[in-house]
Amino acid sequence: MNTKFNFLNRDIVSIRGFSREEIDYILEVAKSIEPLAEKGSDMLRGKVLAELFFEPSTRTMLSFQTAMYKLGGNVIGFAEPGVSSVWKGETLADTVRVVEKYSDIIVLRHPLEGSARFAAEYAQVPVINAGSGAEEHPTQALLDLYTILKAKGKIDGLNIALMGDLRYGRTVHSLAYALSLYNVKLNMVSPDLLRMRNEVLQDIRSRIDVTEYRDIEEILPELDVLYVTRIQKERFPDLGEYEKVRGTFAVNLKLLKSAKDDLIVLHPLPRLDEIAVEVDATPFAKYFEQARNGVVTRMALLALILGAIKNE
Ligand code: NCD
Repeated sequence: MNTKFNFLNRDIVSIRGFSREEIDYILEVAKSIEPLAEKGSDMLRGKVLAELFFEPSTRTMLSFQTAMYKLGGNVIGFAEPGVSSVWKGETLADTVRVVEKYSDIIVLRHPLEGSARFAAEYAQVPVINAGSGAEEHPTQALLDLYTILKAKGKIDGLNIALMGDLRYGRTVHSLAYALSLYNVKLNMVSPDLLRMRNEVLQDIRSRIDVTEYRDIEEILPELDVLYVTRIQKERFPDLGEYEKVRGTFAVNLKLLKSAKDDLIVLHPLPRLDEIAVEVDATPFAKYFEQARNGVVTRMALLALILGAIKNE
C-alpha cells in the first residue's frame, strides 16, 4: 500500500471514476477490515449516514446500514419516498440540500439515470450511488470483484461471463466497466433484446476483448465465473417485450454438469427463476456469500470516504 490515494469525501457516482490501482486498494482495505465485521469498531462514532431510497432494496440498503453500525456510526433515511416530503413534491435537489445538514454522507438509490451525479453536484457531503435507474451500481461492482478475488485469489486471467438482462441491469454495467480494467476474457450472454448497451460495449472493447453469445451452453465449459442477473421487468417500456424474454435463462444442476468443478456462480440478487434453488447447496453457489461481502466492502468504502482509514 505505498501509493497515495485520496478517498476522503469522495463521491461514488460511477465505477468509471476509479483506476485499477484504486479499486485494488479498496479491495485490500476490505480484506483488512474483515475482522471488524465480526468484532465491530467505533471508528465512525458520531458520523451519520443518510439513506435516500426512491426504489425498493433489501441488500444494498441493509448492508450499508450494517456497515455503518459495525463501524460505530448511525443511520437515518427513508426507503419509502411516500412517507417523506418527496410525496409533497419536493425536488431531489432540495431533499439533498436538507439531508446533508443532518448527515456526513448520503447513499442514494433512484429510478432515474443521472440522479446520483445530479445529487452529488448539489450535496456538500459525499454521495454514494446505490443504483441510478438502469445505468450503474458501482458499490455492487466492488463487492462483486471482492467476491471473485476471495473465491479465486485473483481477477486477472479469469474467463468470465455476464448473463441475463445486460440491457436494463445496472449491476452488469458497472461490473463490465470494472472488469475491463483487468486482464480478463469477458463474455456477454443474452437474447438480442437484452444485449449489453452499445455505449458500455464500446467503452470496454477499447480495453479488452468481449465476445457475445445467445446461449450459455457454448461457453460454459471454459468459464471460471458465471454472473447471472434477473430480467428487470420494471424497466421494460413495453411488457409485451418482457413476455418474449422471461424465463430465457435457467441455471440448474443439469446445465452445470458441463461446468468446471471450480466454476463460481454469482448473482446480485434478488433472483427469480434464473438460478434453480437446487444450485444453492453446491460449491458453485457464491451468491449468498456475495451478499455478505457487501457489508465488508461497504465498511471499507465508508471508512475511507469518512477519513477513518487514510492511505498516506
Ligand atoms: C440489484 C439492483 O437493485 O440493481 N440488486 C442489488 O442491488 N443487489 C439487482 C436487481 O434488482 O436485479
